[in-house]
Amino acid sequence: MRTVFDKIDKKNVPQHVAVIMDGNGRWAKNRGEERIFGHLNGVESVRSTLKAALKSGVRFLTLYAFSTENWNRPQDEINALMELLVTTISNEVEELSKQGVRLRTIGDLDALPSSAKIKMLEAQEQTKSNSKIDLILALSYSSRWEITRAIKNIVDAKIPANKITEELVNEYLCTKDIPDPELLVRTSGEIRVSNFLMWQIAYSELYFTPTLWPEFSEEEFFKALIEYQSRERRFGKISEQIT
Ligand code: IPE
Ligand code: IPE
Ligand code: MG
Repeated sequence: MRTVFDKIDKKNVPQHVAVIMDGNGRWAKNRGEERIFGHLNGVESVRSTLKAALKSGVRFLTLYAFSTENWNRPQDEINALMELLVTTISNEVEELSKQGVRLRTIGDLDALPSSAKIKMLEAQEQTKSNSKIDLILALSYSSRWEITRAIKNIVDAKIPANKITEELVNEYLCTKDIPDPELLVRTSGEIRVSNFLMWQIAYSELYFTPTLWPEFSEEEFFKALIEYQSRERRFGKISEQIT
């Protein structure tokens, strides 16, 4: 029998998939558990998603793990999330490296507790020569923060207005050497972007699923790829111009 994976056109797999991992809290609440239980179980979905991305030949996988706005959550939840980040990275980095994963981050690492910042810097250093897939964690990230920072740095560099092009702006973003995602996935049924990669997703295909993040599976990832492949990406042109 043909599996979902078999249905993917391997010649038309997006190079970069970005994911808004949402719904951990609701998943836990549905089970009468604390929100953090949802985050703990969400780690398994990160594993499955990475595995599915590797299997299908995706070259960049960006995961929205903690937004700038998430600093407004109850302090207990923030602390638990930061601890979970440190323990997960400590436990997984060796295995990730074996699989050829280059771990990277986008966002304001300086805003993280120093233990988390140090761990992320170490993991990036340790995996920097790997080239099978780039796993990019968005941590203390938001688009408005990123774009504001870019503007400040452009002004600081005294770049004249006539030199400011889209390519130059791109150079000042956290994602400067990462291609734009062709596909953005959001779980949990929320149909919004929540300040994620707003410059980079200008022409991304958007895929929303009601599945809560701890339930997201390899198969769901493959389904998102298949849906992506059914879309006609016109980039402003007309259908007849697309071969
Ligand atoms: C996503 O799940 C994880 C983070 C934002 C860190 P949520 O924690 O937002 O779960 P819901 O949306 O409240 O269900
Ligand atoms: C977006 O989810 C941020 C992450 C997945 C890290 P949120 O749950 O924080 O987004 P909103 O508040 O529902 O838009
Ligand atoms: Mg949420």
